[in-house]
Amino acid sequence: MTTPIIFDTDPGVDDAQAIAIALAHPDIELLGLTTTYGNVDIDTATTNALLVSELAGQQIPVAQGAAAPLVKTKHPAPAHIHGANGLGDIALPAVQGKAMSSSAAEFIVEQVNARPGEITLVAVGPLGNLAAALQLDPAITGKVKQVVVMGGSIKEGGNVTPVAEANMFNDPHAASRVLTAGWPLTLVGLDATQRCVLSPADMEKIAAGQGRLGEVLQGSYGFYSDFYREFLGIDGCCPHDSCALAWLMRPELFTTARGHLSVETDGFAEGQTIFAPEGRPFLGERWSQTPVVEVCLTAQGDKVVEWIVETLS
Ligand code: RIB
Ligand code: CA
Repeated sequence: MTTPIIFDTDPGVDDAQAIAIALAHPDIELLGLTTTYGNVDIDTATTNALLVSELAGQQIPVAQGAAAPLVKTKHPAPAHIHGANGLGDIALPAVQGKAMSSSAAEFIVEQVNARPGEITLVAVGPLGNLAAALQLDPAITGKVKQVVVMGGSIKEGGNVTPVAEANMFNDPHAASRVLTAGWPLTLVGLDATQRCVLSPADMEKIAAGQGRLGEVLQGSYGFYSDFYREFLGIDGCCPHDSCALAWLMRPELFTTARGHLSVETDGFAEGQTIFAPEGRPFLGERWSQTPVVEVCLTAQGDKVVEWIVETLS
C-alpha cells in the first residue's frame, strides 16, 4: 500500500536529500511539494524543489508558499550552512518547469479535501504553510491522515539558540498554531535527527545510485558537511529532514512518547518547544492545556541512515 504525502519544504541541502527519498521510495506517493522560505528565500526554495524533481526525471506539482514568518521579522537565510543557492553554492542546471498558480496553503486544502483521511502532511521547514492552510480551512484537522513535523527538541537543546531548533525558531507563531491544532501529529525533532549521521561513504553510495540528482546531492553535501565538521566536529551531516520520512515509513526505528507540546513564541526562549508527558502532574495546569501529540525521543541512527542509503542507492 502506498502512502500519499504532501512534502512541505525549504530546500536546503538536507531537504533535497529528503525530496529525493520521497521521489524514489516505491511506497511513497508524492502528491506535491509545497515551498517555504527558511534555508533560502521563497523563490530559491521553489526553484530548488522544481530542480530536484526534474533531475530525478519526475514532474511533481510544486506550490509556492510563505515568504516570511507570520509575526516576527525574518532572519537572514543561513547561507553559511546551505549556501546562498541552498544547494551548497555548486553550479546548478536551469529549471524547466514552474510553480502552479495555487498557493501552498490552497494546494494543501484542496488535496486534503479531495482525499479525506488519506493524506499525510510532512513538513520540514518553518510552518507558515500549514498554519495558512489551517486558517483557510480549519476542518482539515479532521481530514488529514497524519502530520509529521521535523522540528523542535524535547531534551536535546536547540541548534540555532541553546533552546530552539531552526524550523521552530524561524516562525514560532506558525509552529505554535500547527503543533496545537488538535490533529494527529508527530514531532521528529533533534533528539532523533541528531542521532543520525550521513557519512561521506554513505553519500558515495547515494551519488552512485541517483544519476544527475546524485551529483547535486553529493556536491551540496560537501558544503553542508563542512559546516558540521567546523562547528560540531562531525564527519558527515545530520539528515534532519529525511528522518521525518524515516519515521513515517519505519516508525519502529524511533522511540516516542505522547504528551502536550507548546512553543514559546516570544522573548529569550522564542522557538523553544516544551513537552509535558501525558498524565504527569506538574505544578499548575498550563503545561497540559494543548492537545496530546506524539514526539520522538530518540532514533536508532545507524538503522535510519541505512534506510536512507538503501532508498537512494
Ligand atoms: O534544524 C534542522 C532543520 O532546519 C532542517 O529542516 C534543516 O533543513 C534546517 O533548516
Ligand atoms: Ca528543512
